[in-house]
Amino acid sequence: MKRIAIIGTGYVGLVTGCCLAEMGNQVTCLDIDKEKIDSLRMGGLPFYEPLLRELFDRVTGSHRLFFTNDYLKALAGAELCFLALPTPPGVGDACDTSILLQAARELASLMEAPLIIVIKSTVPMGTSQLVKEVISRELERRKIFIPFDVINNPEFLREGSAVSDCMRPDRIILGGENPVAIAIVRDLYLPLLSDPNKVLVMDSLSAELSKYAANAMLACRLSFMNYLSVLCETAGSDIEMVKRSLGFDERIGPHYLNAGIGFGGSCLPKDLLALRASASEYGLPTHLLDTILQINEEMKERFFDKIQEHFSDLSGKRFALWGLSFKPETDDLRKAPSLYLIQRLLEMGASVQAYDPVAMPKAKILMRNYEGLTFCEDEYEATDGADAILLVTEWKTFRLADFVRIKSMMRSAVIFDGRNIYNGLELRHWGFDYYPVGKPALRTETAR
Ligand code: UGA
Repeated sequence: MKRIAIIGTGYVGLVTGCCLAEMGNQVTCLDIDKEKIDSLRMGGLPFYEPLLRELFDRVTGSHRLFFTNDYLKALAGAELCFLALPTPPGVGDACDTSILLQAARELASLMEAPLIIVIKSTVPMGTSQLVKEVISRELERRKIFIPFDVINNPEFLREGSAVSDCMRPDRIILGGENPVAIAIVRDLYLPLLSDPNKVLVMDSLSAELSKYAANAMLACRLSFMNYLSVLCETAGSDIEMVKRSLGFDERIGPHYLNAGIGFGGSCLPKDLLALRASASEYGLPTHLLDTILQINEEMKERFFDKIQEHFSDLSGKRFALWGLSFKPETDDLRKAPSLYLIQRLLEMGASVQAYDPVAMPKAKILMRNYEGLTFCEDEYEATDGADAILLVTEWKTFRLADFVRIKSMMRSAVIFDGRNIYNGLELRHWGFDYYPVGKPALRTETAR
């Protein structure tokens, strides 16, 4: 059992805290947001995440997870301190590490005993060194010597499967110099790993870059597939077939091959921008990263253009928008393609009836003043009097909808499937015009 402090209770901090507590450690999570901490103490979770509720209740109920605003309380007796703070885009899209560095300064001003500082936040190359310098300077200012180590340990959990990703990591990256500190952090993770060789020890610069490399590689696959989907639409080939043929190639593998209306979320877009800024700082060209980002933007525009082309005039048209979150199993709306679509449709004088199984409370706050946007009780209500359904997020509940009932409620039967989840032939059979991504559209008039 270790005593652990976690600074920052966002996705990474809270989920990591719960998982480390589940493994038997004594964890105290700190956040400067007093309201958030008060709510967590009362059992309120700040976001939706599958499996988190049960885990949270278990570890708080068994007094292994605590919450505080007070650095002294969080650090009391802690051997390890995880930094899981936001690192948003800053000047020129470069990663802004000021929140993280301020937290490092704060803890250095209060620490009384040796500490291993573990950086979980996604940070650009050189940040671990900067954290070290900030802490050393603060300790010097206090005229006190306390040994400490800084380990870079990037997090790879995905929203929507954060708990299982955290409990069953593919690999653990540890960047740092001191083998003793590395061994302590490695021992913390070993119970989660089927194979101890999944702990990869390296220098901190490589560890820092590893995180950006993973997200950029995923984004690169997605933009490549999205690019091919445009080629398929133009040439009349089928991206789903191309995807299958790629996925069976063991060198390529089946993951992250789904074409759609572009990737969103807080991580892939933000980390690509930060990586591009880093590359520029090192004086390197950035054309590959530019193109990945550009294709992603174009996918959203292209989806909108398809809708506009079908209707010619969007003014007065009503759209059922299914799915608001950037992907299923999360209520996160950051960089969600739904936001772009809603804005464009409203600008053109259309109205939008939106539904999402989980993200509605957050969406209602975010888009409270949007004239022409209404939030519905379920996916059926959203289709009432609609001219088309826009499938934006592939929530399971949308897959097996009753399209016979839906058709009778709609003004015209058209589906734009931004995630390729439907069988177009079936939909056409029920009388819908069907527009997928990267495949030929199926129109009812061409069936006759
Ligand atoms: C991503 C990474 O997958 C995590 O490993 C990483 O820890 C995290 O960023 C982070 O840096 O914190 P996340 O943003 O939660 O995780 O979501 P993903 O599941 O990776 O999806 C990203 C986007 O890609 C979503 O918009 C999703 O709809 C899209 N996507 C994914 C596709 O369009 N097609 C696919 O085949 C897969």
